[in-house]
Amino acid sequence: MRIGMLTGGGDCPGLNAVIRAVVRKGTGQLDHDIVGYRHGWRGIMEGESVPLTLDSVRGLLPRGGTILGTSRTNPYTSDDGPAQVKRTLERDGVDAVIAIGGEDTLGVAHRLSGQGVQVVGVPKTIDNDLSATDFTFGFHTAVQIATDAIDRLHTTAESHDRVMVVEVMGRHAGWIATYSGLAGGADLILVPETPFDIDEICARITHRHERGANFSIVVVAEGATPAAGTLELQTGAVDDFGHVRLGGIGSRLQTEIELRTGYEARMTQLGHVLRGGSPTAYDRVIATRFGIEAIDAADAHDFGVMVALRGTDVIRVPLEEGVAVLKTVDQRLFDTAAVFFG
Ligand code: F6P
Repeated sequence: MRIGMLTGGGDCPGLNAVIRAVVRKGTGQLDHDIVGYRHGWRGIMEGESVPLTLDSVRGLLPRGGTILGTSRTNPYTSDDGPAQVKRTLERDGVDAVIAIGGEDTLGVAHRLSGQGVQVVGVPKTIDNDLSATDFTFGFHTAVQIATDAIDRLHTTAESHDRVMVVEVMGRHAGWIATYSGLAGGADLILVPETPFDIDEICARITHRHERGANFSIVVVAEGATPAAGTLELQTGAVDDFGHVRLGGIGSRLQTEIELRTGYEARMTQLGHVLRGGSPTAYDRVIATRFGIEAIDAADAHDFGVMVALRGTDVIRVPLEEGVAVLKTVDQRLFDTAAVFFG
């Protein structure tokens, strides 16, 4: 078969490991022809392809980002988008597509699957917010980067008797904040799943300092929101899939904490640092296993599925299961993290 491959949505460490696995087994052992499309779904709409050979993927495993490039282009926002996708696949003689992405990219894959395009999905996001898989690659690396940063912020916070606010990505789920806050020993963790009360936060910080602490570390997810009527926030621009651009809650919290408690406060927004650099060993292994399962599914003509991690197994689930429900932070996990709040 001739199999197309694309990477869509936010990039993350591990994408190249998936590409490498698909090509190594797909061309090296299963004798398929693999063609990459640039910049997510836009590359197929515009027919921007690149052959993927064994040489293309040599040395790729530890490299962050994606050699195919990515975008947040949604074919379903233009009248002719889905038809453009089909025309390109037809023109290029592509029999099936392996789409690597988050809920948006895989949501498009699911819709195209319902319109006759043979697809296999590979779940990807640092947010870890896809319901049908226990973890997505990229998440573990983001948590490690955030944890390393929190460790470093501890030493400067305690040297200056400061409150350090650390804002992390994660969109509308608090997985990165909860895991890195737990691993980094945060004194407070604010997540989208539980709207926060700024007065309660300041009271807890004050109480902690009155009990002898001279610093506090507050980890806040970019999607965290204040309880109704407690704090007004601005909203950002909207992307092709209707997502509001997040970021900035950390700065607002820093100002409010400093104003209300009188303690010096500073803010660090980790942002895209969490998406950069080389994948951890864990993510390299998960991404490689996802890529192998995806090419095996395509080889077996098992389409309309997404590969997924279930416990320690990599399985296949119907695509619609992967994109149906946003996976938010498990309350028991958050309660465990809360044991250590100041
Ligand atoms: O979905 C991954 C993610 O990093 C989110 O955590 C974040 O809100 C968003 O992408 C940022 O998107 P962009 O890179 O397009 O600004």
